[in-house]
Amino acid sequence: VPEINKPLSAKYIKSFAYPTFKERIPAIIQGIVDQLKNKEDIKNKFGQGAYDELDSIINQILDLKKSLQSDKPLTEFTANNVYTYETNAYNKMIQHYTNENKNNPPTWFQTDWLFAECYLYFKLHRIFCFSNAMKKYDPFLQVKIDTLLASQDAIFALNTLLIEMKNKININESEKKKMFTFFLKCSLWGNKADLSLSGGKAVSTNKETFNEMNNLDTCILVSNIDDVYELLCKNEDNVVDIVLDNAGYELFNDLCFADFLIWSGLVKKIIFHGKLIPWFVSDVTTNDFNLTFIYLKTELKSENMMTSVNTWTKYLHEEKWIMRCESFWILPYDYSKMQTESPQLYKSLSENILVIFKGDLNYRKLVGDINWEPTTNFGVALRGFHPTNILALRTVKADTISGLKKGIFEELNSNEPDWMITGKYALVQLLKK
Ligand code: F6P
Ligand code: MG
Repeated sequence: VPEINKPLSAKYIKSFAYPTFKERIPAIIQGIVDQLKNKEDIKNKFGQGAYDELDSIINQILDLKKSLQSDKPLTEFTANNVYTYETNAYNKMIQHYTNENKNNPPTWFQTDWLFAECYLYFKLHRIFCFSNAMKKYDPFLQVKIDTLLASQDAIFALNTLLIEMKNKININESEKKKMFTFFLKCSLWGNKADLSLSGGKAVSTNKETFNEMNNLDTCILVSNIDDVYELLCKNEDNVVDIVLDNAGYELFNDLCFADFLIWSGLVKKIIFHGKLIPWFVSDVTTNDFNLTFIYLKTELKSENMMTSVNTWTKYLHEEKWIMRCESFWILPYDYSKMQTESPQLYKSLSENILVIFKGDLNYRKLVGDINWEPTTNFGVALRGFHPTNILALRTVKADTISGLKKGIFEELNSNEPDWMITGKYALVQLLKK
């Protein structure tokens, strides 16, 4: 059982960290290997050079899997010219853990879950990075695209609603607030579809999802939606940062929410933050962001869809929407370290009215992946990270949580032992500046 107030780790068999390293991640890694074993396909897409390197790449990935499964030490990366800054950050953390542990390097199951899991995705990317012909290879690209296409009914239905709402004239305050609540909840529940939980397999979302959304209100364990709305109404010229989570269906929901925010005048400008490299299976990279637009214009084409995509493209040209991928989001740090490790980013967030953190991993990084007493105040759990107003939109998929009312945790535990890892429950948590 995880100790109270300590970071989660796979050394606790009762933490979700344990099955993650024991089963979930090995299955994800095996999925990548199986994909690469389709050598002819790789050759067609990446050429003979890639084909020739495949055996070596596959062996390195299998070594990584073996190292994880036999709980080997996490070793320092050799410094070279690629991702130098990130490499140093990882090495610094390894040195830190080694010093802390009487000169013994951290191992997969014994060290902090958050660190080891970030290390894994960084290491995986480096394998491709150091190849000649597959430097840019994203092992999760296909599954991200499949998930987008598999959710097309839900995407069409949501887009139609967006267009219909925007076509209404003379909306009053209460209607506007209702729309805000609706799109915020879409963005929230869009996080339920998760390619890491599904073991790297594509998932589909059907169009009933948001018709049924209001029935899910009882599953929102903390809901500060009204306070967020009030905050945006009270201020002018709002600039909002959205730290994105997953590509596919979730990103589409985020774009609809972001469109509503601009259209309604509640927000003047939105800065999206994505990942520099493939991350936690489905996280949005710049390539995913751009590809989404292309798929919406081709495979998911409709008149309404073209209206939306054209509007969004215009937002991007006018810089009402901006997409950025800072390095910090792929470093092994929780967000309490942002101010010292990435002061520029911290400062830029602090200049804006609100930063929205999407999803489970962002929440883990917000609260330091610590096994908090569940009633711990959200602000306390952030341990000094407070650049501006902070909003977490998270479906619960890992065993860390804060800010619950007394008794809720115990009640859920006794009725549904797995409630923290399924994405069935959610949080809309605001910490005001
Ligand atoms: O594997 C760790 C984890 O945080 C899970 O808890 C979750 O399933 C997944 O990664 C990512 O979730 P999200 O995409 O919501 O951050
Ligand atoms: Mg994710």
